[in-house]
Amino acid sequence: MTNRIAILISGRGSNMVAIANAIDDGRIPNAEIAIVISDQPYAKGLRIAHERGLKTLVIERGGRKREEHDREIISILREERVDLICLAGYMRILSPLFVDAYKDRILNIHPSLLPLFRGLDPQRQALDHGAKTSGCTVHFVDNALDGGPVIAQRTVPVLEDDTVDTLSARILEQEHILYPEAIASVLSGFKVK
Ligand code: GRF
Repeated sequence: MTNRIAILISGRGSNMVAIANAIDDGRIPNAEIAIVISDQPYAKGLRIAHERGLKTLVIERGGRKREEHDREIISILREERVDLICLAGYMRILSPLFVDAYKDRILNIHPSLLPLFRGLDPQRQALDHGAKTSGCTVHFVDNALDGGPVIAQRTVPVLEDDTVDTLSARILEQEHILYPEAIASVLSGFKVK
């Protein structure tokens, strides 16, 4: 059976591309991208997904309550018979309605070694704290912000002369390796202890 993946984005979409590449070259076996959904109509990643021949859809918040927005997304995910949802730079917090509808089937990637530096600007937080090591984490999404169980992590050194940009770039390179590995591991039965 082919696992149908939905990728939710808000921006650049480089992790989405990394996942699509990994499916194409067999690093994520038995999987296909069912749909790429963006809450932002001008997300760069949308154009890239479209050019790649992926099905795309914009579902804007449009001033609605979080639950109402999520309800529309859930109905599309059901229509598309989605098995796994990968948040990839999706800048909205999911409602409990969404999290509960797809329990243990929503993954997120975050550019820090969780549980350190949750929330916004984790690379800046790492630099401000004088961290000597940082990295990225793929985790299951639960109702706590960047809080669900960890699936996999990769570390990078923080260098003396790092800026937010140089550290972010070093972490991003590892994100593109980590996310496909974590997805493959979840699809082959990874469970939280
Ligand atoms: C990545 O750093 C990811 O860890 C974070 O948002 C960024 C998204 O980048 N959640 P991209 O859109 O995948 O290029």
